[in-house]
Amino acid sequence: MDVLIKVVVGLHIIGIASLLGGFLTQMKAMSAGTARFVPAMLHGALTMLVTGVALVGLNQADDHTLNTVKLGVKLALLIVILGLVYVKRDEEKVEKAAFGVVGGLTVANIFIALLWT
Ligand code: HEM
Repeated sequence: MDVLIKVVVGLHIIGIASLLGGFLTQMKAMSAGTARFVPAMLHGALTMLVTGVALVGLNQADDHTLNTVKLGVKLALLIVILGLVYVKRDEEKVEKAAFGVVGGLTVANIFIALLWT
């Protein structure tokens, strides 16, 4: 089970790479107001949701204690990210504020995952 959990954490990290990497490629365009939510960001956000929920299930099945408040916060932030990226996925230009919120919340979720013990 430990190996399976580690594999799913690996997929969780690939999801972060896709979501954050997509955001980083658009940063120059963001300052010009012409950034768009690239498909990698939507797929990364969906990967985070699926692998995150799977990790909760696998850890519970293996009797590991999880910080449910921390996970609730991560889930809430991801829902905002996913909502914004999904709704605006076909827009040619996304306003700076919405784009910045997605990048900021993604980075916040990384540090919540790592620093909140
Ligand atoms: C953008 C959203 C997210 C980011 C950036 C993120 C980031 C991370 C990172 C970096 C880890 C590895 C931490 C470690 O092993 O020490 C992790 C683990 C984990 N994540 Fe996420 N995560 C996100 C969303 C979610 C969601 C929505 C859930 C489930 C509701 C979730 C559940 C978990 C679980 C269960 C673990 C392993 C146990 C733990 O470290 O708490 N994640 N996440």
